[in-house]
Amino acid sequence: MAIERTFSIIKPDATRRNLTGQINTKLEAAGLRIVAQRRIRMSREQAEAFYGVHRERPFFGSLCSFMTSGPVVVQVLEGENAVARNREVMGATNPANAAAGTIRKEFAESIEANSVHGSDSAENAQIEIAFFFAGCDVVG
Ligand code: CMP
Repeated sequence: MAIERTFSIIKPDATRRNLTGQINTKLEAAGLRIVAQRRIRMSREQAEAFYGVHRERPFFGSLCSFMTSGPVVVQVLEGENAVARNREVMGATNPANAAAGTIRKEFAESIEANSVHGSDSAENAQIEIAFFFAGCDVVG
């Protein structure tokens, strides 16, 4: 399997509880390298555009309010099979269904405040990385 990149967000519930380092430790322990990272405050416009595929879902408005409620850390992760590996270490979207040892099992507060986002495919990873990072910001 070739080296791949994926996009990750440490969400406001996690930055609020000062969990950035603990989450990064889990990502690195899973074999992922953090090759770009920036702490930002997402605008409403950015959140609505980033989560545009969920526009028709009942949780869309609440999700965008949550994602703009505090700082987030946007990241590019690199490693073998990075998309799948990151999804494995994140755990299920709903922390109630997440496996032991995963980030969401240990840290998530709810299905919305679920501590991290990760791309669901290599194709979406490229789109999501380009949404927040210029090529020169990513240092492998
Ligand atoms: P994320 O991986 O960032 O992608 C969409 C987000 O919507 C998801 O994580 C959750 O934070 C949020 N969300 C809120 N409610 C739901 C729901 N019922 N099903 C899926 N995602 C939800």
